[in-house]
Amino acid sequence: MKLVRLVYASQLAEPLPRTTLQGILAASVRRNSAESVTGFLCVSPRYALQCLEGPREAVNDVYSRIVRDPRHHSVTLIRYVEPWRRLFAAWAMGYSSELSSAAPASPRWRDEAGFNPFLVESDLIENVIEELCERTERMELRA
Ligand SMILES: Cc1cc2nc3c(=O)[nH]c(=O)nc-3n(C[C@H](O)[C@H](O)[C@H](O)COP(=O)(O)O)c2cc1C
Repeated sequence: MKLVRLVYASQLAEPLPRTTLQGILAASVRRNSAESVTGFLCVSPRYALQCLEGPREAVNDVYSRIVRDPRHHSVTLIRYVEPWRRLFAAWAMGYSSELSSAAPASPRWRDEAGFNPFLVESDLIENVIEELCERTERMELRA
């Protein structure tokens, strides 16, 4: 079995209402864990950035479902690698809504609305998601 990591960015059709997000996360946790897919989803009012990790066929299947989802568009593959281990093994689908505020604040990666995942260099994108994930875990620990 080949382990792959896929990262994509997309533009939301409109800011995702809380209930819609909860629905997406519930479906993701259920469906992803059934296929041994783990990962992390970050959203801002404008963008989504998601990392999916797992068996190659399963990740490709999940991604092809996600690409067709009308709640976002311009779904753009940023990175597709065969890593030696998972970065987000603990999460069926970890989640952060802090993409605009908690993402590393490099001015290179900002547009007029704040952080723009489309501007991040592909070899740095995992670091950005990991940092968001760490900040999210810290936030959960504080809560
Ligand atoms: C930003 C975003 C991320 C999503 N992530 C996942 C995911 O990780 N896993 C998943 O099964 N569905 C995810 N979905 C939902 C899928 O696009 C799709 O609605 C769901 O899998 C049901 O697919 P189906 O109607 O073809 O069965 C996501 C949707 C959006 C908009």
